[in-house]
Amino acid sequence: MSTDFSTRFTGKTIIVTGAGSGIGRAATLRLLAEGARVVGADVSAPRLEELAVETGTDNLVTVAGDLTDQATVDAIVSAAGTVDGVASVAGITDNWLPAAEMDDDTWQRVFDVNLTAPMRLTRAVLPQMIERGAGALVYVSSEAGFRSSISGAGYTSSKHALNGFVKSVAFYYGPKGVRANAVAPGGVNTNIDIAFNSSYAVERTGKLLETMPTPSVEPEVVAKSILWMLSDDAENINGAILPSDGGWTTI
Ligand SMILES: NC(=O)c1ccc[n+]([C@@H]2O[C@H](COP(=O)([O-])OP(=O)(O)OC[C@H]3O[C@@H](n4cnc5c(N)ncnc54)[C@H](O)[C@@H]3O)[C@@H](O)[C@H]2O)c1
Repeated sequence: MSTDFSTRFTGKTIIVTGAGSGIGRAATLRLLAEGARVVGADVSAPRLEELAVETGTDNLVTVAGDLTDQATVDAIVSAAGTVDGVASVAGITDNWLPAAEMDDDTWQRVFDVNLTAPMRLTRAVLPQMIERGAGALVYVSSEAGFRSSISGAGYTSSKHALNGFVKSVAFYYGPKGVRANAVAPGGVNTNIDIAFNSSYAVERTGKLLETMPTPSVEPEVVAKSILWMLSDDAENINGAILPSDGGWTTI
């Protein structure tokens, strides 16, 4: 049986954060291909401009700005109008710093981008979704939301916290017709910063990283999981943290 997905999101407006690169970019391209109107947000204006030129469609509206600024969140929601779904993808890493080496700025920034910004965007779109009794929220978590050995203390903590936030939104607003889920990727070939600034982290995690069951995948592979959770095909899925990692969590 072949399935034509080219109209799966026709008539729907989806917000994608981190649209300028990697997983967010791939999700944006696929959503456009499946008929959506996409509001793509990113802190990098040049990346968004490149995306707009490449796609050349009025179905893509871009918003350049730092998601940790409330003004950016307001601009995104205003550009969107009616919001049918949100793919909250933007995220940053933590220089692989274990707790004893963590600095306050890194910790705060990682939590601001990976947890507080998605919360603020969620808070901004929930009232209209509740009013309409419909909405799909998908967050990009990480393998680091399940385990501690593939990042520093900040990233691991922020993704564990994001998983809790997703479950809370799912619990409170599922009865109002809003679904909240997360996709937790394993390794993905993107521009994300994977610098180790801790020699102790290199020593402690080196061998463990060799247990990844599959090589890193292209971002388009993870985008498929995101779109499924955004789509009506996932109508019975709420509060799930879906590994999209080729089986890494089974180890
Ligand atoms: N690449 C991986 O191996 C991997 C694995 C698991 C989870 N993830 C998660 O996937 C998500 C996407 O990461 P990616 O790998 O595609 O990275 P990426 O760096 O290629 O893309 C992330 C995009 O988010 C944007 N961004 C970052 N901070 C922002 C901010 N404050 N405001 C607005 N935009 C901002 C960046 O400019 C960038 O374009 C992240 O949440 C990351 O934690 C990635």
